[in-house]
Amino acid sequence: MSDEAMDAVTRDDHGTPATGSTSVALGDRAGLHRGAPEGEPLLAATDLVAGYLPGVNILNGCDLVLHPGELIGIIGPNGAGKSTLLKALFGLVNVRSGSVTLGGEDITNLRADHLVQRGVGFVPQNNNVFPSLTIEENLQMGAFQAPKKFAERFAFVSDLFPTLAERRRQRAGSLSGGERQMVAMARALMMEPSVLLLDEPSAGLSPVKQDETFLRTRKINKAGVSVVIVEQNARRALQICDRGYVLDQGRNAYSGPGRQLMHDPKVIELYLGTLAADVDAASHGPLLPPTSTS
Ligand SMILES: Nc1ncnc2c1ncn2[C@@H]1O[C@H](COP(=O)(O)OP(=O)(O)OP(=O)(O)O)[C@@H](O)[C@H]1O
Ligand SMILES: [Mg+2]
Repeated sequence: MSDEAMDAVTRDDHGTPATGSTSVALGDRAGLHRGAPEGEPLLAATDLVAGYLPGVNILNGCDLVLHPGELIGIIGPNGAGKSTLLKALFGLVNVRSGSVTLGGEDITNLRADHLVQRGVGFVPQNNNVFPSLTIEENLQMGAFQAPKKFAERFAFVSDLFPTLAERRRQRAGSLSGGERQMVAMARALMMEPSVLLLDEPSAGLSPVKQDETFLRTRKINKAGVSVVIVEQNARRALQICDRGYVLDQGRNAYSGPGRQLMHDPKVIELYLGTLAADVDAASHGPLLPPTSTS
């Protein structure tokens, strides 16, 4: 899908592209969440410090807010700590200082299964399906804390992902990358989350499948689920996001409305690549040639 076509389907509630460097740079903590709606955030991370090994911090004071109904994107270079941030939000990596709140309640370092009960869904970057189980069994695993909800939620995810319902008896291990990604998203949606954390849902997919994934993410968001999406495909992610955060070395480097970041010369130069500006100006199709199929 061309950028223009993607714009047409995703643009409805986004602002006009900015031309100057108007997003918020590191050091401007007060303006870090500029563009966010007023009111109490649904999910908030404040000054998060976290890491895996003793004495080594991967997150060095990260902030993020997600308001009800928002779709926000986290972009940044490899190793910036994007996956670590999602894991810290979901109780999978120890938060050493700072806090995470959900609906105003402290959920810092709460276990993942408790977070699922409270309405947080997480789709990890890798190994996100049970390959030896069928599609239906994977979805049952997603609903294991509320098996009575299965039929109703299965109907909901089948509407979003019709192929999953048609192939419900197929083993997840025999699916393509794009299909597995659908199973993983559908599994996370089985508990009717209010917040969905997605770690690189477009990774390894062909450009067409990537576009489908972004549009589906937007559809999930429109269905009332607030979403945090981590993406390598930064331009596409910023196109569908209400707001974005650029992470670098475990810190917020830039933030602002998705389109503003996408057109910010500094963000283009440092994180999107100068080619992005040329391609954007020409309003061409996908930035990269096909690298794989799914
Ligand atoms: N389980 C782990 N144990 C030790 N270090 C880890 C672990 N997982 C990640 N790291 C380190 O944390 C840093 C940030 O990794 P993370 O996976 O959060 O980056 P990322 O921004 O998601 O990168 P990518 O774009 O490549 O997915 C890296 O230096 C990585 O080596
Ligand atoms: Mg990652």
